[in-house]
Amino acid sequence: MCGIFGYVGKRNDAGSLVIDGLKNLEYRGYDSWGIACKTDSKVSIEKDIGKISSIKSEDFSSNCSLAIGHTRWATHGGVTPQNAHPHANGTETIAVVHNGILENYQQLRRDLESKGHEFKSETDTEIIPHMIEEYMKETGDFTSAIKKSCEAFEGRFAFLALHTESNTLVAARRGSPLIIGVGEDGYFIASDIPAFMNHSRLVQYLDDGEMVVTDGESILFSSLKTDEEIQKREIEITWSVEEAQKGEYEHFMLKEIMDQKDSIARAVNQNEEQIETLADAIRNAKGTFLVGCGTAAKACMASEYFFSVISQKHVNFAPASEFKLYHHFLRPESLLIVVSQSGETADVLEAMQIAKSKGSKVLAIVNVEGSTIDREADYSLLINAGPERAVASTKALTGHMAVLMLIAYALDGKLKEGRKVLLETASEINDMLNPRYVDFVESVAERIQDQKDLFIIGKSWNYPMALESAIKIQEVSYVHAEGFAGGELKHGPIALIEEGTPCIALMGDDEVKNDIISNAIELKARGGFIIGIAPENNESFDVWIKVPEAGTAQALVNIIPVQALAYFLAVKRGKDPDMPRNLAKSVTVK
Ligand code: F6R
Repeated sequence: MCGIFGYVGKRNDAGSLVIDGLKNLEYRGYDSWGIACKTDSKVSIEKDIGKISSIKSEDFSSNCSLAIGHTRWATHGGVTPQNAHPHANGTETIAVVHNGILENYQQLRRDLESKGHEFKSETDTEIIPHMIEEYMKETGDFTSAIKKSCEAFEGRFAFLALHTESNTLVAARRGSPLIIGVGEDGYFIASDIPAFMNHSRLVQYLDDGEMVVTDGESILFSSLKTDEEIQKREIEITWSVEEAQKGEYEHFMLKEIMDQKDSIARAVNQNEEQIETLADAIRNAKGTFLVGCGTAAKACMASEYFFSVISQKHVNFAPASEFKLYHHFLRPESLLIVVSQSGETADVLEAMQIAKSKGSKVLAIVNVEGSTIDREADYSLLINAGPERAVASTKALTGHMAVLMLIAYALDGKLKEGRKVLLETASEINDMLNPRYVDFVESVAERIQDQKDLFIIGKSWNYPMALESAIKIQEVSYVHAEGFAGGELKHGPIALIEEGTPCIALMGDDEVKNDIISNAIELKARGGFIIGIAPENNESFDVWIKVPEAGTAQALVNIIPVQALAYFLAVKRGKDPDMPRNLAKSVTVK
């Protein structure tokens, strides 16, 4: 989703610094960019549609020590230079960049227009500088006018604002994330840490309903409602700059697929006492619910099978966006487990609010430490996958599944056995992801790259992996892909199979193996080209992608070659797998 980055401090190259920082937020997905630099008592704004990667940061190095920038992912208004941020008031004394959606912007815009304000864009954001200008007439003060404006806004927002008459950078937040980087020469404020990682490794988090004002030397956090000053801890970032870079790989997606050689073992390396405590929380809960979105939702869905098979415990999965009407089931004794890579997904945050309003406890399993979900949950476990920057989630999925499986084993009093199974699987994955294996998966992608449709089948925990396979293939290669429970084929989808249609069958060496082989044979009989992802070959397969036999952890193993297949399909079809169209890394709007 949109990226925000601003700087104020002693450096006089704030413009180029902000452009470089925005380039580090490209992975979030965007369609236009822009920057506002304050020089002397003027604000100069430059913005355009398209990619920022080709923009030379040196062109923005003129004497400036306060700048804000933005990468926009269009919501209100099309992709045009006028709609790109920053937006300014009529006299161009106030500039604003914004994430989120102001739900009552149409009414506010009409009110402002009736007072003579003129607008140049179709965005909700443009009302912010106009509102601030309007309230400054009352308060005479920039920051108080921002607070008053926030009172009038409905919906979720995070914005940065600057004013020609002041050397301060102001940020306000209700819903969308903002993080402050504490540097030696000033302060950075961004929607995500990679924007300023090269300059600062100490962060402070702005929470919902808060505002921060800094002139680069001092910083003041306060409540948007009460003016009360708020003290903040400084937290050190644990991951390295290298971890957040592509290194030898052409794309983040491939790097992150390969990272699974060690990221699963890191996820398993949890504090045992904490896992036992969480298993107890599930044991004692009157109803446990699991929610997440997209790929994280598939980790939740796979976990229903983990809890059923490993610990014979019933947990209830729902996509976070569908959780609203489940509140009837929630009680103070219920437990909600939320799963998220970014820890900022709006639908997941809403599910948490619903659970909290019923007095239920929330357990979060997240990747990004310090994210809103991490901080707002009653208990939180980190999967320690390291930064995931490709829009398509890969290593976070296997990290989430590993932690959930560990809890399922702990619930059955077998935490040590669970650790052993998962660490052995991690080591098998390390061996599997060798260059020859990856080349083989690439050759399979080459064989099917021109196909229009692709189907994936699985059963038990391989069923959510079939759904996840479809997401991966759709989002990066734009091939029409659909996942099914193998047993559902004959109830409809088999009608879609034609001569040569590629069909992936995910299987393990388990009690449902024969069922899924039968499904693969049914597909083959209708002309399907069968790609079997399994520990053993089978005569129904036209191509066999071998995976290690992993027992209860088979889902973690089987999904990895599909991630690689999706990656190579994208590259061979000339698409950028790191920045798929219409998608954003962190979905902070509903
Ligand atoms: C797909 C993908 C998305 C995310 C979803 C949830 O590859 O990345 O489906 O899984 O938007 O995001 P998080 O995990 O950050 O809550």
